[in-house]
Amino acid sequence: MTNKRVRKAVFPAAGLGTRFLPATKAQPKEMLPIVDKPIIQYGVEEALAAGCDQIIIITGRGKTAIEDHFDVSYELEKMLEERGKLELLSVVRQISDMIHVAYVRQKEAMGLGHAVLMARELVGDEPFAVLLADDVIDAEVPCLKQMMEVHAQTGASVLATQRVSGAAISAYGVLDGFPVRESPFSGRLYEVKNVVEKPKLEDAPSDLAIIGRYILTPAVFDMLERTPLGAGGELQLTDGLRMLLQKEKIYGFQFEGKRHDAGDKLGFLKATVEFALKRAELGPQFRDYLSRLKL
Ligand code: G1P
Repeated sequence: MTNKRVRKAVFPAAGLGTRFLPATKAQPKEMLPIVDKPIIQYGVEEALAAGCDQIIIITGRGKTAIEDHFDVSYELEKMLEERGKLELLSVVRQISDMIHVAYVRQKEAMGLGHAVLMARELVGDEPFAVLLADDVIDAEVPCLKQMMEVHAQTGASVLATQRVSGAAISAYGVLDGFPVRESPFSGRLYEVKNVVEKPKLEDAPSDLAIIGRYILTPAVFDMLERTPLGAGGELQLTDGLRMLLQKEKIYGFQFEGKRHDAGDKLGFLKATVEFALKRAELGPQFRDYLSRLKL
């Protein structure tokens, strides 16, 4: 249990992105754009909106484009200034002015738990957030901000969750828990009893899938140090969380909002269409175009 403010947000971004080959052969999947913004920027903006002011990105080989993206681009800014493209200049500046970013290099992609463990020194002894950029969440109140409320009330770790029906559940960490009745979170809060990574449908303890937003207490690091390799031969964050449950309470929170799995081709396409339709300068024309398609 902690009462400290959550200031740091960790973004594991060392994965190989094989699902998007060949697009990800020489480009990190976190930089694939939904409309005109790389998917990782959606997550970073969400973390900032939730009150985090330090971003820690866990990178690996071939990920320098992410570092360049959040850095100042002197030549580009100068060129935009000279050409009087001031609106674009402000868009570009906003990104580099946005945040303090630290990078940690994960030498081997050994799983999500391993990636989180890489952040241990930079996070230190305070609660922190983990955001998986693949999960792009469109919500009136940013998902992580909703979870901050739960953390502020409970002082415990909080996992974002959403119901997933049928065999698709096997692609997720799945939680088993019971609804917390007396809480201001109107039937959306669960006390977690167990978590299982990517169970078979018949072994899934519920239909509550863990979505890529976590607020974790620093006690998770000691657990991850001792967690044996799990599903897929990787160090799974979910397994570390199961060990943490022996020590501390963990809550699952069914957030309000729509989650897109941008790590999946179809999910990525759906997110692109929905975000484009919402854009003032694109939406009306795009809607018109879509409605004329003979489907
Ligand atoms: C990871 C986690 C899993 C979680 C999922 C959410 O899996 O290991 O527990 O449910 O993210 O997107 P991945 O999608 O990286 O296989």
